Amino acid sequence: MKIATIVGARPQFIKAAPVSRAIRAAAAGRNISEILVHTGQHYDDNMSAVFFEELGIAAPDYDLGIGSAPHGVQTGAMLAAIERILERERPDEVLVYGDTNSTLAGALAAAKLSIPIAHVEAGLRSYDRRMPEEINRVVTDHLASLLFCPSPAAASNLRKEGIREGVYVVGDVMVEALTEAVIQAKKRETTRGSEFGLARLGLEDGGYFLATVHRAENTDDPARLQNILAALKTISRDRPVVFPVHPRTRKMIAAERPAGIRFIDPVGHLEMARLESGAAMILTDSGGMQKEAYWLKVPCVTLRDRTEWVETVAAGWNVLAGADRTQIVRAVRNFKRPRKSAPLYGGGSKTRTTAASRIVKTLLGTCQSTHK
Ligand code: UD1
Ligand code: UDP
Repeated sequence: MKIATIVGARPQFIKAAPVSRAIRAAAAGRNISEILVHTGQHYDDNMSAVFFEELGIAAPDYDLGIGSAPHGVQTGAMLAAIERILERERPDEVLVYGDTNSTLAGALAAAKLSIPIAHVEAGLRSYDRRMPEEINRVVTDHLASLLFCPSPAAASNLRKEGIREGVYVVGDVMVEALTEAVIQAKKRETTRGSEFGLARLGLEDGGYFLATVHRAENTDDPARLQNILAALKTISRDRPVVFPVHPRTRKMIAAERPAGIRFIDPVGHLEMARLESGAAMILTDSGGMQKEAYWLKVPCVTLRDRTEWVETVAAGWNVLAGADRTQIVRAVRNFKRPRKSAPLYGGGSKTRTTAASRIVKTLLGTCQSTHK
């Protein structure tokens, strides 16, 4: 039995790491294999190679090197290249993650060749079709035959769209990735001293805010970006703001870099885990970082009008502030730490079974019964 995993963007390397590890552990001595396809959507060393190195992900079997381009051109180039690989490799299952153009291309290529698709992080919805990610999620979910949901709410979203078969609520694979990153980051802090983490940046636990912005709705709208930067500048009077800059955002803020905000290059997942756990608060439009903030019990202000991770908001640990300067500053200064925090997406639960192990068990069970 052969599984083809398609990845291409930073969060997908992080999500695929624990699942790929679990697949390869289950494969030992059995007729199971995984081929890893990297579309090349992200390609800078600090957006790609660092994650393979740090997270011990096997080198891709196919590195497509597609790179950046407008949506149609990028997705089309991926589709054509993935199709060629799937025709050659004829896997029994194609495994895709999240909601990027790499996810969509992998799912479309597989669907056209009638290869079953498994989607990790299925059922997430922002109900905002202006987001390219929402289109990618909806299409992928409607093509997939195995849908791995991080939460019951995600499964319920699928039911509303008539998808009932093959839906499994397994929790979120990023919990495992984060737990491991925190452990590894602690080790690095001891061995690398001033070259890593808070020491490298001259920061102290609780002494700074951590910010990231990369969503097209923020970076490509000058008014929204200016408002966010103005809010960060205001709160930098309370504590310094550390801002690892995504390459999409780098281009947009090249002209104006407000004083008080410390812009740094993107960091690896280990250093990010350390920066997150030490932050007084996280301000972000990242999907993954909203969850990581919750699991680390760091308050989060989300720089978007909606979120798919609604449970973190309902739990009181995440405040939606959009790109409104006043709302962002108010959310930071008035944040009240909730006293309790329920286990969400599998994080903090007592069971040792991880989302990755549930996914692999289901995947292998289903593949074996379908493909002998
Ligand atoms: C993509 C995903 C988004 C996800 C994000 C994770 C889509 C539609 N969007 O957005 O859902 O949250 O990844 O980080 O798939 N660039 C570089 N070097 C790189 C990669 C990108 O310079 O290694 C620059 C290029 O100028 C490129 C721009 O960043 O045009 C945007 O990259 P792209 O992959 O198209 O979208 P992201 O904003 O990264
Ligand atoms: N991340 C990282 N280094 C950075 C910024 C983010 O390792 O400089 C990690 C972050 O901890 C999370 C993931 O990347 O695990 C989130 O990816 P991103 O914000 O790019 O995409 P999204 O989750 O919004 O799709």
